[in-house]
Amino acid sequence: MNGDEIRDLFIGYFEEKGHLHMPSASLIPAGDPTLLFTSAGMVPFKPFFTGEQTPPRVRMTSSQKSFRTTDIDEVGDHKHLTFFEMLGNFSIGDYFKEGAIEFAWELVTKKFGLDPDKLFVTIHLDDDDAFKIWRDQVGVPVERIYRYGDSDNWWGPAGNEGATGPCSEIHYDGGREKGCQDMVSPDDLTAILRADRDAGVKSGFPDVPGCHPNCDCERFVELWNLVFMQFYQDAQGTRVPLPAPSIDTGMGIERVAAVMQGVHDNYDTDTFRNLIAASESLTGVKAEGDRTASHRVIADHLRSTSFLMADGVLPSNEGRGYVLRRIIRRAIRHGHQLGATEPFLHKLVTSLVDQMGDAYPELAADQSRVEETLRLEGERFVDTLEQGIRILDQEISSLSGLVLAGDVAFRLYDTYGFPVDLTADYCREKGLTVDMAGFEQAMSEQRARARAASQFQMAETIEVSVDQSTTFSGYEELKGKATVLALLADGKEVQSLTSRQPAA
Ligand code: GLY
Repeated sequence: MNGDEIRDLFIGYFEEKGHLHMPSASLIPAGDPTLLFTSAGMVPFKPFFTGEQTPPRVRMTSSQKSFRTTDIDEVGDHKHLTFFEMLGNFSIGDYFKEGAIEFAWELVTKKFGLDPDKLFVTIHLDDDDAFKIWRDQVGVPVERIYRYGDSDNWWGPAGNEGATGPCSEIHYDGGREKGCQDMVSPDDLTAILRADRDAGVKSGFPDVPGCHPNCDCERFVELWNLVFMQFYQDAQGTRVPLPAPSIDTGMGIERVAAVMQGVHDNYDTDTFRNLIAASESLTGVKAEGDRTASHRVIADHLRSTSFLMADGVLPSNEGRGYVLRRIIRRAIRHGHQLGATEPFLHKLVTSLVDQMGDAYPELAADQSRVEETLRLEGERFVDTLEQGIRILDQEISSLSGLVLAGDVAFRLYDTYGFPVDLTADYCREKGLTVDMAGFEQAMSEQRARARAASQFQMAETIEVSVDQSTTFSGYEELKGKATVLALLADGKEVQSLTSRQPAA
């Protein structure tokens, strides 16, 4: 079953069960200042869960373009992505745990036809109701029901505030041969995690004596997350009950496609295989051994950056544009690791449009703008790479020991966009190391400063001599006409700017 067939089957199943099919919203959340991006299927429905708005129907279903950077450091393994399509069913005060679990099991085992013996479920440590439903009503053997704490089985809120609650996940077992060791029993894992929680320890995973559904090895793939929305959490973390218990579920189409296509790996599905083939032919490097991860990162980041741009985000030094710029640079760095010294990402957009342009016409419509933006960013970063190397050479020549200071690596990263792993690679060639603890320290200080400044900082207003107000139409429109009131360079008004001249 390919992605289109999976999507149709999912949506059709829930329509039959009385759900209204809602279209995918933009990756830029409409009217939600607490969120940078649409990071899950429930984001467009946030006001329905909290009772601020009345839903068009209490049962809804959707297939939502989603982008999140939560797992960005894991992208390159077999399952993590920054951009994905999330299938979901939603109940606003209608069915709750029992209905959500029964629908999910029927769809996965009867419609998708997955072998029930290959499915494991997880629940929250304290969720005895969900345990009983899985065991008594669905008939999942207790050896395949695992309990986890808040870090794994509590979901939300999306953004600073919103609906939140315990969740239950369905995981697909790729088999013992993909795993690291024999399974720990659910009872033993529960005892470890409860003891950790009582002792205030965050997670006992490194000490767990066996494999389990959330193990870091490649055995399990999380297919579907069923969230039992029960609370509204405010920005201070205070929780109050929602107007009515509700359901939000999220199933990544890419992961289901991998399982349905028998490949167990997102990057072995049709779409990704073709993108990786294009990346191989462009760089002349096969996706084998330790080169595989870089090709996967390029394929994932090509998707996320192109979709973000097609929804109106442009690279910049703040807010959404900054996130986009960092992802583009990450992809370019991985290309550099594969030997690409010239901008290359823009040359892969055609392959992406071939793969996904039919399902997402906005991508095809914006192809040339996306390519041009990626090409310009690539050119700009090539300069940055060279500048970074120059500064690094100066620092190294004045170094007295064999360790480059963490704050130097951080300055290169923060001011010049020079990634720390590139700094580390370069130093290694010269017999040097980087003080990574110092780098992390500088990074967390920077994060704390950024958090304190703002959760979501928009561009500063620059006063210009022209007295005119501006209407922001970006929540409704991605394009619009505007009049340029002034051009500023170094804080002074100028009549013209060259393309590389820093504005303001
Ligand atoms: N909202 C459920 C999920 O993103 O997994």
